[in-house]
Amino acid sequence: MEKVKIKICSGTSCFVMGAAAIQALEFTPPEDIADKIEIVEVRCMNLCHNVNDKHNHGPFVYVNDELIEEATLEKVINKVRSILNSCNA
Ligand code: FES
Repeated sequence: MEKVKIKICSGTSCFVMGAAAIQALEFTPPEDIADKIEIVEVRCMNLCHNVNDKHNHGPFVYVNDELIEEATLEKVINKVRSILNSCNA
């Protein structure tokens, strides 16, 4: 089975808004998903520069092709589990 790809923005804005906590996934992933994920850190994806939006909804994380706004470690893990569960269904 293909791994679930997690793309974590490590740009300054996302970093200070909490991406640092999500990067912990690289070092201490939950056992049930540890060998099923691939983590990539990327530079600012320019989502924090949306001039039509007054608020920055970072940190931004993509789980496969799905964007998670205001991402937290829990939200990312839950999304990964839901993708894995739907593959096993
Ligand atoms: S710093 Fe993450 S989208 Fe800009």
